[in-house]
Amino acid sequence: MTRGKFITLEGGEGVGKTTNLSFISSYLQNHGIDVIVTREPGGTRLAEKIRELLLDSNNESISESAELLLMFAARAQHIKHVIEPALSQGKWVLCDRFTDATYAYQGGGRNMNINTIEWLENLIQGTLRPDLTLLLDAPVEVGIERARDRGQLDRFESEKIDFFERVRQAYLRQAELYPERIKLIKADQPLSDVQNKLIDMLRPLIR
Ligand code: TMP
Repeated sequence: MTRGKFITLEGGEGVGKTTNLSFISSYLQNHGIDVIVTREPGGTRLAEKIRELLLDSNNESISESAELLLMFAARAQHIKHVIEPALSQGKWVLCDRFTDATYAYQGGGRNMNINTIEWLENLIQGTLRPDLTLLLDAPVEVGIERARDRGQLDRFESEKIDFFERVRQAYLRQAELYPERIKLIKADQPLSDVQNKLIDMLRPLIR
């Protein structure tokens, strides 16, 4: 059985991940690919509970280390119970955020040590890395506006603008470090242009 492909979608707040996630999923299904769509933090019962804890803005303040470890705890469950079984059954996995988000939010946003993140990545994932990462990038103000329009802000969305600037810069740094894997797409252009770019990036994987 050929192993499935692992695709992740990344980007700051309000860059249009949700719309594009369902576009990508339909595109793959239309090409006869058996794909499961999932998200991080989350994707299993326990990981979704951890997500609730992480996003709840009424919590006691969460230490940076606790936040980082909770992200990887959720990820460990998700990999073991959803991602790995699907890939080994030949299914494709399309995931809304993965470890690049940890480099961006905990590494960039929270200024946590990159070596610590790398160490946890190796510990929890072994050799598992996405085959393709689609990174939607837009100026921070554009995304924040969109997120605010959606109403109630979660614990991350309530951060200040310089936090999101650091997140964006850290994402761009990841894209520079891994140009083969991470494809950067400007998200502040008409949706049809964004989606044509997505197709360009997906096509080589399908062949
Ligand atoms: P979202 O999936 O609705 O965008 O919300 C998830 C939030 O969690 C988002 O603000 C980014 C944050 N996050 C991290 O800080 N680190 C991570 O590793 C992941 C996967 C998400």
